[in-house]
Amino acid sequence: MCGIVGAVAKGNIVPTLLEGLRRLEYRGYDSAGIALNNGALHRLRTTGRVAELSKLADDQKFSGEAGIAHTRWATHGAPSERNAHPHISGEVAVVHNGIIENHEALRQRLQNEGFTFTSDTDTEVIAHLITINLKETPDLFEAVCRSVAELQGAYAIAVMEEARPERIVVCRNGAPLLLGLGEYGTYAASDASALLQVTRRMVYLEEGDVAEIHRDGYRIVNCLPGGVAREVARTVQESELTNEAVEMGPYAHFMQKEIFEQPGVVANTLEMVLNAHSISPRLFGNEAENIFKDTRSILILACGTSYHAGLVARYWLETVTGLPCNVEIASEYRYRNPAIAPHTLVVGISQSGETADTLAALSYAKSLGHRHSLGICNVAESALVRQTDLRFLTRAGPEIGVASTKAFTTQLAALMLLTMTLAKLNGRSSDKSEREMITAMRHLPVALQHALQVEPQVKAWAERFSEKKHALFLGRGMHYPIALEGALKLKEISYIHAEAYAAGELKHGPLALVDKDMPVVAIAPNDALLEKLKSNLQEVRARGGELYVFADADSRIQESEGVHVIRLAEHAGLLSPILHTIPLQLLAYHVALQKGTDVDKPRNLAKSVTVE
Ligand code: M6R
Repeated sequence: MCGIVGAVAKGNIVPTLLEGLRRLEYRGYDSAGIALNNGALHRLRTTGRVAELSKLADDQKFSGEAGIAHTRWATHGAPSERNAHPHISGEVAVVHNGIIENHEALRQRLQNEGFTFTSDTDTEVIAHLITINLKETPDLFEAVCRSVAELQGAYAIAVMEEARPERIVVCRNGAPLLLGLGEYGTYAASDASALLQVTRRMVYLEEGDVAEIHRDGYRIVNCLPGGVAREVARTVQESELTNEAVEMGPYAHFMQKEIFEQPGVVANTLEMVLNAHSISPRLFGNEAENIFKDTRSILILACGTSYHAGLVARYWLETVTGLPCNVEIASEYRYRNPAIAPHTLVVGISQSGETADTLAALSYAKSLGHRHSLGICNVAESALVRQTDLRFLTRAGPEIGVASTKAFTTQLAALMLLTMTLAKLNGRSSDKSEREMITAMRHLPVALQHALQVEPQVKAWAERFSEKKHALFLGRGMHYPIALEGALKLKEISYIHAEAYAAGELKHGPLALVDKDMPVVAIAPNDALLEKLKSNLQEVRARGGELYVFADADSRIQESEGVHVIRLAEHAGLLSPILHTIPLQLLAYHVALQKGTDVDKPRNLAKSVTVE
């Protein structure tokens, strides 16, 4: 989604703002802009990439000591220069992430008061509101507080006022924003990666925080709607992010880097158990033991790839712990009237921890009376982590590619730990089975390394896929969600239409689609459903469909005309879905390369979906 960078510093801040935007490119955007305040506001905007904005800035010798910059992912109004941020009203320039839900009513009111709108965005109402409030108070900080009190929705904003170039006012409510404290100035950004170039010292704003930054410092006032405004102190945190973690290194794409990082990041995520003989509930927080002992069912809320992780976990949780588990698409759950089972543990899964639908679904679940929640998340400072009673941080490191890869496998590792912990506390596992699972987990990073070795064979398949318009993915049991994930990966980065089905569903409809032009990808590990799956695959072959089968070494599926097989080295039992994800990620990646799409920044998509 949109990205914000702001700076008030000694010396020219334009390179810092542009480098910050470049580092936020991964969030997804379709236009970019920058405004400087040199006692007069100067603005540049483009529907091109950040590199084009940089060129414009160079050509125009753009230079200044205070400025705000933005990458926009269009919601209200098409991607165009007039809709790109910053938006200017009189002496005020504003950049904004999120959605102002009451923008239509505000626009009407502001038009009645004589304001002319120059864009189709919801953001422009913020700029005009601040201009109005500045007529009543000379203080920008106060004017911003008064203005945001009128906004409904989720937003992060940064505001400059022409007459006061020495400061910027920023505000967070439902969309992430942090401050960076540098040697030569103070900065603001949507995420820490944008500011690592100038500082590691970060202050994460909380909901309702309004902050004023100037070259030598900052102050924060919390103005949560309905609350009493009060000055607050927020902890200064030393970011542990390394530059290598947010740079591509020797890889051609972040997605490729992130696929190949999986053995290491899964090992990091499991570190606490790899050297232990047993699993402790404290992995999930101090209160975990009491809460888990009281848990009678589980409700998982998530979106996209994180939802697929939840679907795999349902198989694990119900099989191993015997506890009923429901998995819900967060954007659906938040608007329905679900029946409430008492003693349910609500689990929110999210890479970013900022997905608006997941956060809203969690709040909704709480409002319905669910008492206990757990967040499984990759970002320690995220809203999800702050919003849940218990938490488990996956240690995938920053995931930059829009297509989620390493976040997924580390989520699965975390969910297996949850499964084992709940099984233990509910008397559903023995010391022996616990030890066996820990041994299997110790082996997982090596098994992942082996799975990555199928890349050359997958690459050869990808050449045939790139000419296709459609593809079907099939799986059974706990590999059905992996088929869903494989299809999602392929469609989001190669733009090939892909559908996934539980293989037993084939003859209930999708078989009608099968002909020689429809490649059918099957996930065929050597598990209890293999023979059933083989019958489903026969049904495809009998209709002339070409099969691409990911099997295990001992899956008893032979290559033949129209049946292509790639084998993973070993069968991993319950952990098999984690291994079988790897070739599907590689397939999507290599098909996208063949098609020449923008692998890390696929069209129309954003990395963290902070709006509804
Ligand atoms: O940050 P989250 O895990 O909450 O994100 C959820 C989805 O938006 C995300 O998984 C999305 O589906 C990815 N682009 C999939 O690759």
